[in-house]
Amino acid sequence: MIEERTHAVVRPRPDPESLIELGVPPERIPRHIGIIMDGNGRWAQARGLPRLAGHRAGTHNIRRVLEACTDFGIEVLTIYAFSTENWQRPQMEVEGLMRLLSLTIRKQLNELDANGVQIRHCGRLEGVNERLRQRIEEAVERTRDNDRIILNVAFNYGGRAEILDAVRGIVRDGIPADAITEEVFEQYLYTVGLPDPDLIIRTSGEYRLSNFLIWQAAYAEFYVTPVYWPDFDRQELMKAIRDYASRERRFGRVLTQE
Ligand code: IPE
Ligand code: IPE
Ligand code: MG
Repeated sequence: MIEERTHAVVRPRPDPESLIELGVPPERIPRHIGIIMDGNGRWAQARGLPRLAGHRAGTHNIRRVLEACTDFGIEVLTIYAFSTENWQRPQMEVEGLMRLLSLTIRKQLNELDANGVQIRHCGRLEGVNERLRQRIEEAVERTRDNDRIILNVAFNYGGRAEILDAVRGIVRDGIPADAITEEVFEQYLYTVGLPDPDLIIRTSGEYRLSNFLIWQAAYAEFYVTPVYWPDFDRQELMKAIRDYASRERRFGRVLTQE
């Protein structure tokens, strides 16, 4: 599934003061962060508000976390916005989520574009309402040449669906069985061309992947916080990055030798 037109290569330009504030050496900062933005419903419930109010607050929160990631020189931020399983929620909630995404693109596209954000979509567009689909495609197309940070939006995304789509693509292209290496397989994933996530953050205390980047997360570091997504701010992100920076990643090897 080679793309028709390539996206610009990202060249992060971290803000020096933010790096001092973070206090993590640049080589220990993750290149790619994935966030499972969970807890919108509980956030709203705790305030006696409808679930959609939580989704609205959660959507607003994306901006400040994205800004912080840009300041710290993160190359890719993947956000889990809607899973293939989330269609099973009550129709009113699903419709509300679709409206919110559409509205957010409409309201924020200019600013995201001006800030050098390259928007990508990670997931299936089939089954998504035609207007919304057009909006997503337009956002991706318009921001293709931006090179400050990639905002990869996992929307109508499921890791198993992604793997199946990859298998279908490989079969369709008639790739011989012996030629299917991990590198070839990755060319057929939605994340083609992106580095694997180094750090996966899940808010609201759940210790599961919920079908998020299941292939790509093979060696990702996990960070779970009890904080609900709408409350997850720059300080919380710094805690997650500092925690990540303190870990020893081994990739199955023995790293230290006497
Ligand atoms: C995450 O918040 C947003 C989506 C799944 C779209 P939830 O809606 O899952 O919030 P909780 O888990 O019910 O609190
Ligand atoms: C994962 O959250 C999906 C998103 C954050 C979009 P869910 O709330 O849907 O996951 P489960 O149901 O708790 O596993
Ligand atoms: Mg949830």
